[in-house]
Amino acid sequence: MRLIGAASIVFVLMMAFAISQVAGASSRQLEASGIASGREGGLTDGKNIFRFDTFGDEQLWTDVLRMHDVISGIDPVTALGVGLKVDVEALPPSLVEALGRGQVDLTDPRVTIELLRLDAVVGVKGTINATGHLAKVGVTCALCHSSVDNSFAPGIGKRLDGSANRDLNVGAIVALSPALDEATKAEFRTWGPGKYDPRHHAFNGMNIVPLNSPSLPIVIPPVYGLRGVGFETYTGDGPISYWNSYVGVGQMGGRGSFSDPRIALFITQTPDLVTPKLAALLEYQLHLRAPQPPAGSFNPEAAARGKDVFGTQARCSTCHRGPNLTDVSSGPNDTTPFLHSPAEVGMNPAYAARSATRQYRTTPLRGLLEHPPYFHDGSAPDLPSVVNHYDRLFELGLTPGQKADLIEYLKSL
Ligand code: HEC
Ligand code: HEC
Repeated sequence: MRLIGAASIVFVLMMAFAISQVAGASSRQLEASGIASGREGGLTDGKNIFRFDTFGDEQLWTDVLRMHDVISGIDPVTALGVGLKVDVEALPPSLVEALGRGQVDLTDPRVTIELLRLDAVVGVKGTINATGHLAKVGVTCALCHSSVDNSFAPGIGKRLDGSANRDLNVGAIVALSPALDEATKAEFRTWGPGKYDPRHHAFNGMNIVPLNSPSLPIVIPPVYGLRGVGFETYTGDGPISYWNSYVGVGQMGGRGSFSDPRIALFITQTPDLVTPKLAALLEYQLHLRAPQPPAGSFNPEAAARGKDVFGTQARCSTCHRGPNLTDVSSGPNDTTPFLHSPAEVGMNPAYAARSATRQYRTTPLRGLLEHPPYFHDGSAPDLPSVVNHYDRLFELGLTPGQKADLIEYLKSL
């Protein structure tokens, strides 16, 4: 990357920004009015909420964690290094060209501020004041549940809503906050990329309240392919909106109310900026389809044989059944999930013990190739490890050929 003088970088960016304003390029405004996408209102609202709404969580990320001070000193290379993604479609063409020619100094923190000004950092929303400083920062759902297709460069491309950001190191990012004590920072730093612990603490609008210790980080899941599943999270705690509210209020730190006596968590804040948006947000999530496996990524004949193994000798379909390959909705009624004890599926019980159900949901299988590692704690690094786990646990006695076919089938989902 060729470096050019700081003044000219900022000039390129300022020009880019000015051009985007003149062109009225706020595609979001167009989308919000339904013009750009041509979709019906609810879906577009939900998409905007998912991508851009902080629900007022600046009260956590700015007022308490002071992440705006931290981010002001972080250059784009460092930001990409902790897994943050850049939406290339939010950048004006002049900036894309300058980037392509290596004329933007990605080691200059001021470039980060300009990217935030352009709403180009996926899941991070910055407010830049008149003097060009980052006055406020907040996060959105897209931080953890969107990625990019890397079409421009690694970490820079078109948004892929619903894909888990498995590069995102939430623990390392939050550990930069000057507001946390050293012990907490050290603990967060152990989480690693692609993981987060939503049961460690909650924010009640004023304070970070401890929930469980030590932290047990779990794998950030994709949020596509959930239509018809019925009960969400690894532990089947409730429907999508239940969990959106849990995270939007207590984890992201949005201004809103959440209460669940099962886990003794009660947060009330007015005005509630979360609850009125849950319906549109739900609608958008239900429209996110699982990606098809890339052409040539699996062997179709072997996958067809593997499908057979899945339903017969490997007994996978006793639990992974129905259109979503989960039995979670085969409970007695609409409000009671059908779940499995940790021992039944050979899983560590510690995380489930902190949830409302204390059990695990049969994970709907979709887009598997896209999101290793597997199981809630990431204990299976790849698909062969998944198959070997069940082969040992259930003493299936699968032959190497059957295992290979089963893996091809899983790759095809
Ligand atoms: C800091 C990262 C992070 C953010 C931000 C975040 N989530 Fe999540 N999300 C997670 C993790 C981790 C889980 C896994 C929790 C579990 O299953 O117990 C999860 C689970 C989910 C699930 C359940 C998926 C399934 O397979 O059942 C949905 C749906 C979801 N999130 C939607 C959202 C929405 C909508 C928002 C914004 C309101 C959001 N998340 C914000 C990390 C995040
Ligand atoms: C007794 C019910 C049951 C059976 C039988 C079963 N599973 Fe599962 N499966 C589960 C549960 C519960 C989970 C969630 C475990 C966790 O996340 O800790 C799961 C998770 C998975 C995952 C991880 C998905 C992800 O996104 O992380 C895969 C892959 C999987 N199972 C494949 C299989 C295969 C292949 C078989 C047959 C060899 C099988 N399962 C048999 C209940 C079952």
